[in-house]
Amino acid sequence: MQVIIFDDAEQVAEHAAQWVSELVENKTNPVLGLATGSTPISLYKKLVERHNEQGLSFKNVSSFNLDEYHNIDPANPQSYRSFMNDNLFSHVDIDVANTHLPTCTSEQNPREQGLNYEQAIKDAGGIDLQILGIGANGHIGFNEPTSSLVSKTRIKTLTEQTIKDNSRLFKADEHQPDMAMTMGIGTIMDSRYVLLMATGENKADAVNDMVTGALSAMCPASALQMHENAIVILDKAAASKLEDKGYYQWADKQNNKLNQQYGLYHNY
Ligand code: GLP
Repeated sequence: MQVIIFDDAEQVAEHAAQWVSELVENKTNPVLGLATGSTPISLYKKLVERHNEQGLSFKNVSSFNLDEYHNIDPANPQSYRSFMNDNLFSHVDIDVANTHLPTCTSEQNPREQGLNYEQAIKDAGGIDLQILGIGANGHIGFNEPTSSLVSKTRIKTLTEQTIKDNSRLFKADEHQPDMAMTMGIGTIMDSRYVLLMATGENKADAVNDMVTGALSAMCPASALQMHENAIVILDKAAASKLEDKGYYQWADKQNNKLNQQYGLYHNY
């Protein structure tokens, strides 16, 4: 796991945008794994800027989102489909037909929908770069604590904490779903690269558990300790509980030197 600590959230977003740009510019048919939540909004802003100002093109990109609420109308402003349209898809040249979310209506069988989603990812060639945020309880996607570390796309019941954390996004009279379809931890682990963004003090405990805690289903993000190419990018607040900050910062400098000497090498 590579841990990189930046001064602020702006620099975290800039670094994430650099990763996405490098993939999109250098691979013929790049496959992005995308996330919702407040954290990646700044990344999507930067990508839209790069599209408008530097001609970064998403024409050949396919995307797979981590999760979507169960039985939600895509047109509902609370759906993750709406979130992706509003924050990214409607502002760049991506072909919407190549953008996927793990949807499931009440008429559909969630098990079949999960299998179909896994198959669609395989058919696209697998995910090259998965963007992740982290929940305050260590969840990734909607893989709540005690999720199987090898799980695949399926339906999950959200924890009270997640429902409470996300309630800020719903109006008092608005229905807040308590179930969601989510890529599994195993699905995320199959991505070639994983880039986890975390900012703010309220993520500091989860980040510390993920990086230095035991590999445990109680902290789903700790599974990334077993990923060959997991990059964790943090602002100072999210990194504040890590003991070995000095080491991560020094290792990052050394990595930059290696990159300068040998060039960047991403095995997509
Ligand atoms: C949500 C999403 C996750 C996201 C997390 C943190 O419930 N399912 O994919 O990473 O919570 O969200 P935020 O970035 O808003 O803190």
